[in-house]
Amino acid sequence: MPLPPSPPDALAVSAASSFAPPTGAQAQLWWTSTTVPATVLAELRGTLDPATAGRVDGMVREADRRRTILAHGLLRRLVCTFTGLAPADVQLARHCESCDANDHGKPYLVAVDGQPAPVAFNLAHSADVVAVVVAAPGARVGVDVESVVEGFDWEPVRRHVFTDAEWGASGAAADPSAERFALWARKEASAKATGDGLSIDLRHVSISPFEGPGGARTSRLTAPGATTDLLVVDAALPTAEPVSAAVAVVGQAEPPALRVTQALLD
Ligand SMILES: CC(C)(COP(=O)(O)OP(=O)(O)OC[C@H]1O[C@@H](n2cnc3c(N)ncnc32)[C@H](O)[C@@H]1OP(=O)(O)O)[C@@H](O)C(=O)NCCC(=O)NCCS
Ligand SMILES: [Zn+2]
Repeated sequence: MPLPPSPPDALAVSAASSFAPPTGAQAQLWWTSTTVPATVLAELRGTLDPATAGRVDGMVREADRRRTILAHGLLRRLVCTFTGLAPADVQLARHCESCDANDHGKPYLVAVDGQPAPVAFNLAHSADVVAVVVAAPGARVGVDVESVVEGFDWEPVRRHVFTDAEWGASGAAADPSAERFALWARKEASAKATGDGLSIDLRHVSISPFEGPGGARTSRLTAPGATTDLLVVDAALPTAEPVSAAVAVVGQAEPPALRVTQALLD
């Protein structure tokens, strides 16, 4: 029997695009390099919501402005494609799991005119890469991307990210540094899926060393008074500079069926 055609790994995400949003256990990870023409950046800047545009204007470093415009601009293009809404009608809100505030914390899409949010999402950026994960409405999903830096100085982060046992076990891997970047991304994706982010100690996120069905690992986040179980999958991004990326979902029976696509922005 002929194999079904594989989905393309790079797609133009323009105003004229039409894609289906993820359903069930599907998740889509869209990524772009931060090297895009100034015209694209200006166009995406014009689609941001007032709160994000205000944050961008307050950023000192050009690289931070660029990453935020690209992440939020790509998110809005995807949502507009899924719904037919104009960018101005896509509304975001935030909620902080730690202090219950609504002016920071994990962002989510708000229902507009009685239409429920079309997707759950999360964003991440590293040095030269921006990633947006979208999953079915109601999913608690998180993504993290870590730049893989040769000769990385682990000392400042080691004690905040890894338990002694994890540090020791990763030291025995064929490539300890690659193993540690991968584990770091899995842990941070898990903490972002629950919405805790880095308000929790990443040493309280334990990741199974073994892959199960669908390439998923189990992940357990133990915060004071609560334990959350997740599934986490690695995402291979064919970026110019190497990165480790992972997507995590809370409490899903099936592993996230992840499709990775490079967003070609014009
Ligand atoms: C948010 C956080 C997870 C980002 O980590 P990072 O490695 O700097 O950045 P990443 O590129 O991975 O992710 C950034 C994106 O994560 C999303 N995000 C923000 N807070 C989040 C949270 N609590 N959970 C999940 N995602 C979050 C946002 O979309 C953010 O981008 P944006 O601000 O442009 O919208 C981390 O900085 C954090 O948790 N900070 C808050 C820590 C804290 O003490 N909070 C308590 C305040 S009372
Ligand atoms: Zn807070």
